[in-house]
Amino acid sequence: MKDASPQTIYLADYTVPAYHVDSVHLTFQLHPTATRVTSKIAFRPNPESADRAFYLHGEHMKLISARIDGQPVDVSLTPDGLTADVPDAPFIWEAEVEIDPQSNTALEGLYLSNGMFCTQCEAEGFRRITYYPDRPDVMSVFTVRIMSDLPVLLSNGNPTDSGDGWAEWHDPWPKPAYLFALVAGDLVAHSDSFTTSEGRDVALNIYVRADDIDKCAFGMEALKASMVWDERVYGRAYDLDIFNIVAVDDFNMGAMENKGLNIFNSSAVLASPETATDANFERIEAIIAHEYFHNWTGNRITCRDWFQLCLKEGLTVFRDQQFTADTRDPAVARINDVNALRGRQFREDAGPLSHAVRPDSFVEINNFYTATIYEKGAEIIRMLMTILGEEDYYKGLTEYFDRHDGQAVTIEDFFACFGDDDPRLAGFSRWWHQSGTPHVTIEQAWQGSELTLTARQETPPSAQQQHKEALPIPLAVGLIDADGRDLTPTSVLMLNDTTQSWTIDTRTTTPAWRDTNASASDQQNSDASDAPTLSLNRGFAAPIILHADQSENDLLRLMAHDSDTFSAWEAGRTLALNTLGDMARGIKTPSDAYVDAWCLSLRSEDRAPAFRALASALPSTMDIATHLKSQGHTPDPQAIYDARETLSQQFAEAAQDSLQRLFAQHQVTQSYRPDAEQSGKRALCGRILGLITRLDGGAEAAKQHANADNMTSQLTALGCLIGTEHATKSLEAFYQQWAHERLVIDKWFGIQIGQAAPADASKVAKFLTEHEAFNVKNPNRFRATLGALAANTAGFHTAGGSGYALLADWLITLDGINPQTTARMTSAFETWAMWDSARGEKMRVEMKRILSTPNLSSDTTEMITRILG
Ligand code: PHE
Ligand code: ZN
Repeated sequence: MKDASPQTIYLADYTVPAYHVDSVHLTFQLHPTATRVTSKIAFRPNPESADRAFYLHGEHMKLISARIDGQPVDVSLTPDGLTADVPDAPFIWEAEVEIDPQSNTALEGLYLSNGMFCTQCEAEGFRRITYYPDRPDVMSVFTVRIMSDLPVLLSNGNPTDSGDGWAEWHDPWPKPAYLFALVAGDLVAHSDSFTTSEGRDVALNIYVRADDIDKCAFGMEALKASMVWDERVYGRAYDLDIFNIVAVDDFNMGAMENKGLNIFNSSAVLASPETATDANFERIEAIIAHEYFHNWTGNRITCRDWFQLCLKEGLTVFRDQQFTADTRDPAVARINDVNALRGRQFREDAGPLSHAVRPDSFVEINNFYTATIYEKGAEIIRMLMTILGEEDYYKGLTEYFDRHDGQAVTIEDFFACFGDDDPRLAGFSRWWHQSGTPHVTIEQAWQGSELTLTARQETPPSAQQQHKEALPIPLAVGLIDADGRDLTPTSVLMLNDTTQSWTIDTRTTTPAWRDTNASASDQQNSDASDAPTLSLNRGFAAPIILHADQSENDLLRLMAHDSDTFSAWEAGRTLALNTLGDMARGIKTPSDAYVDAWCLSLRSEDRAPAFRALASALPSTMDIATHLKSQGHTPDPQAIYDARETLSQQFAEAAQDSLQRLFAQHQVTQSYRPDAEQSGKRALCGRILGLITRLDGGAEAAKQHANADNMTSQLTALGCLIGTEHATKSLEAFYQQWAHERLVIDKWFGIQIGQAAPADASKVAKFLTEHEAFNVKNPNRFRATLGALAANTAGFHTAGGSGYALLADWLITLDGINPQTTARMTSAFETWAMWDSARGEKMRVEMKRILSTPNLSSDTTEMITRILG
């Protein structure tokens, strides 16, 4: 949020900083409403800059005094900073400012959370702490002195000295201001240690409030595992004597990679078996890894400017995905990644907020921490590895670390480390510059035993980018015979042009693909049932939307037999989408063959329970809506909801005879561990419990809810019970049991709204915003309530529009408190053009109402303006 009127910033306008900063000394006299920050900064003119103007960013602070080389200096204040006349030589800037952490509800800069001082500086929060050139290409060494009576005083780097009521920290690694952090509070530490491959002994701490000390052990194990992994896989060791993590209750995002002092949303680090679900544990492990991995991809090498955000985020997400795949089940990990990509990034890229992974302009950088920059950014790195092969990929990364350590760089710098003239990478950089998800249409034609595969790509125009070019797309394909055996290993065919064809002779002993010119017109689809089946986009090697028009027989074969586990899941998903789409349109009922295959896969002993849990789940209402839209139909959320209900009921009845047996067979009997094996079994039992509930009205689930000794089982049961006669009693009991655990109460809020039937969702949400435990200032609680409403697709999009109105009311309220979280949540409206015109119009009316709010933040203004188009 800026007080000045919003301005668009362009990548093309980048200029190098006018001054380098050689060192920064900061002193904090902490006080809830009047913290004094004194800074002593050594500036040096940058010989590479023609500009000698001296400009420092600064917002929401009172300047007490300013000196240059010890002499008081007159400064000119601007709405978001200051200027001053400075010597044409190195000089020392000193300033004292006063800031008010307590009234800082935006949670950017220095703020208070439950009596604890903490900071959030990415992207532009440091300018709320002191006057500074707050841009990532200004890197410096920081020394920080904190004065406070609070017992724990932390900053970046290594502790150098401390005494009664003060502590000093020094960070030897030059860093941009966005990686600065400070914490002061009445905290306790869960401590451990680690010796790096380079022989450095590192003290590890997770700092929390005393009540939470029993929720740190898992995070600590995840941290050590991440440290080992980054040494083993990328050859990167940690570089300070201490690594601290702090849990904070009020936080806009998941976590932040500040050098040596990661600050975490408590939901992203605190976990015990009683209070956290398997999904929470898995997320915590991934976020701890992600923030730790940033130490090299983000901190040691950082971004030149914020247009390069994907340089650190896309790469670091890819690294945390690799870590999860190595630590848990790789196929399950990939399915989860793809579900998230489709649910958030494909959706974003298909709507008015579509933007390139490296955008050319932005108004508010906070609005660009998007699924596109993170998740699609990660997919691009994955394709790089697929195209180059692992060896050349890691060679390129090593080159990147060697060449750019200590620098603030661009995507071009990164890409050059892989040899930008490598013919295998021709055109590849378009992936960073072009927005939109490519659609790839596959046609197959048989001539005798020869199969010709023709692929055609098209990326639909978007508002920001009308003309789209062909992208180099790695198509990972397999071919399986009627018995489900692989005829070929997975081959990566490079689709570089708009249309390309490949041919394979399936009768040779080792069939292999060869390039062909476009397919001849007299070729025909094979209708022989023993013809081999194509397995396409194995492992989801490319982030594309595939149109392959495969027959139900082919999909059933892939679902049952594909050696690529991801593709087996994908075939089941395609069948489900086709079936549910047709059901929602009222044109077809599920085929017996599909229902049988579904039951078989639920029971299949050859597949891991975690996989079976995923494969038996139906695509989300939003996924089905998107699918219908892509076929040219206007989706009806209520009809989709009803179709999902009908099909689930049909599955429950079809599998009825085996449900109790499967449920008993996969119960975990050992003591709780949040690992892949146990959580897979619990996930499968959770799916089965949902089906059983459809048949027994909730008796089994009520039993599990009452007896559960871990949160996964308890919450799964509670979710099943919503909508049954047991709901009220169980919800009440759950609340009484967990009223003192805020992260559990977030779940209690979320599940009632998330699982509510469409007609109830906004009523339940409204009721809960009036609950004594609702707190608009806490982002987690706000998201658990209004975010859960937006995620309940059929409930949010009820025809009357009550969901839209309720969300708009609350976004208007939140904007005056926390613009960043408000702006992020406006994306609930990004799908307005997908629905019928009545719904679309109601959504637009609510957005215009938000936009007409006096003093609306620039964050929210930018988002709504872009969504309205
Ligand atoms: N850089 C953080 C991460 O990805 C995310 C973040 C951005 C946190 C902005 C706070 C503010 O890991
Ligand atoms: Zn990150």
